[in-house]
Amino acid sequence: MSFFELGDGEVQISQAQIQQRIQELGQQISQDYAGKQPHLICVLNGAYHFMSDLSRAISLPITVDFLAVSSYGVETKTSGEVKLVKDLSLPLSGREVILVEDIVDTGLTMNYLLSYLEGRGPNSVKVAALLSKPSRRKVEVPVAYLGFEIPDAYVYGYGLDRAHFDRNIPFISSIKS
Ligand code: IMP
Ligand code: MG
Repeated sequence: MSFFELGDGEVQISQAQIQQRIQELGQQISQDYAGKQPHLICVLNGAYHFMSDLSRAISLPITVDFLAVSSYGVETKTSGEVKLVKDLSLPLSGREVILVEDIVDTGLTMNYLLSYLEGRGPNSVKVAALLSKPSRRKVEVPVAYLGFEIPDAYVYGYGLDRAHFDRNIPFISSIKS
């Protein structure tokens, strides 16, 4: 922990806690999708570690794909306008899709992505999110597989950035706001 800086905020989730929870989610998904071949879609950039660990915690044949979105600047995020900056490579028709996201905050990004994916003809779409800030929600989004519920704090680490840095921190920390 020498190189990485712990924030002074109330959210502190250790590497062991993250890994333990992801194993549980992976087992749950493996049970729920038994006999099926779920298609995991990672929302870049924030979910890249979660996707990697979650996919390896699932004991089923799976396929993976990636998309990237950018909110139009931090300020306009509240508008819910999301720009797709990297599209999917594989078709969704007839697939059991699990959308893998780092954090659901207002829910606007998820809401946009869910309707985007639904339009491509999957058999089902569920959301797996590592973190959720329910007190910030503007639109309700169903999160089938949730890692941790957290209070309204800015978190970073384990894929989540702080001004583009700190994604490589192996734990999650927050700063006092
Ligand atoms: P939403 O559309 O408000 O739900 O925003 C979701 C996106 O905002 C997430 O996918 C993250 O990329 C980003 N985000 C929201 N809260 C945080 C945070 O506390 N730390 C880092 N990124 C965040
Ligand atoms: Mg994100």
